[in-house]
Amino acid sequence: MQKHFITIHDLSKKDMLDIFELAEKFRDNFNAAKTEPILRGKWITNLFFEPSTRTRCSFEIAAKNLQGEVLNIDTAVSSITKGEEIVDTFKNIEAMGCHIAVVRHAQDGVMREIANHLEKMSVINAGDGQNEHPTQAMLDMFTIRQYKPDFSQLSVAIVGDIAHSRVARSDILALQKLGAKNIRVIAPSFLLPKDIQDLNVEIFEELDEGLKDVDVIIALRIQKERISKDAEQTIDGLYAAYRITEKALSFAKRDVIVMHPGPLNRGIEITSAVADGPHSVILQQVTNGVFIRMAVFKYVLCSKGVS
Ligand code: CP
Repeated sequence: MQKHFITIHDLSKKDMLDIFELAEKFRDNFNAAKTEPILRGKWITNLFFEPSTRTRCSFEIAAKNLQGEVLNIDTAVSSITKGEEIVDTFKNIEAMGCHIAVVRHAQDGVMREIANHLEKMSVINAGDGQNEHPTQAMLDMFTIRQYKPDFSQLSVAIVGDIAHSRVARSDILALQKLGAKNIRVIAPSFLLPKDIQDLNVEIFEELDEGLKDVDVIIALRIQKERISKDAEQTIDGLYAAYRITEKALSFAKRDVIVMHPGPLNRGIEITSAVADGPHSVILQQVTNGVFIRMAVFKYVLCSKGVS
């Protein structure tokens, strides 16, 4: 049976550690990794129904590093615009002999529906609505581990628009699986998801209180594409209270690292002084995204795991 990569829920801690170990091998022996023909003769299809820079490009680079063939489908001119159902699109791509579909879509949970209709092709979730972005969480955890290897000692604060963020949800699940000591979300109540109590995190409304002594800050942008026009202005005004500034960093540990999944809205959720400053590991996250996605390709193709 084919393997998919749809949600952090499906991964054991061992799966996650195996993927990190493999990504580390790809990072540390990059030239050797490029000659590993893991994807030779395999077709990887990118179908992004929402915009993307980092995720789409890094999946393509990762696939080409492993000698895969990449097909980028322009979803704006695909036959979905003529009324084709999404599941039929994927059954047709599978029928053409594609091996892995990398998919981003606005609908929560759509990846499982697609995967349930496929016989051979694997689905990798590149972000579904407000639900999950599992490869982002994997590269975030891989980056944290690079700077702060012991998760059992970690306090992590996720700040901003938690309600609409698939990154926040996947990061929380991943941090829990890896045994993080303390996971906090910092946001006004209307930017928290309805099921926040089920997520087992500490909730703070005040930025300085929430950032006290944290090791890692993950800043999030306001997901304006998921917010009504009426609410936008109110939120813009309130977001200043959650902006990651140099002053805000003074509440955290001295060696705090600052992360952001991108795209950045400079001056809104984070200042340029912080985004480009000594605590920022934002571009390291992007670099690590390629190695993690190479490892995830191997994970979905190997029936027995990647170690
Ligand atoms: N982090 C992330 O998903 O960025 P993109 O939307 O540019 O892919």
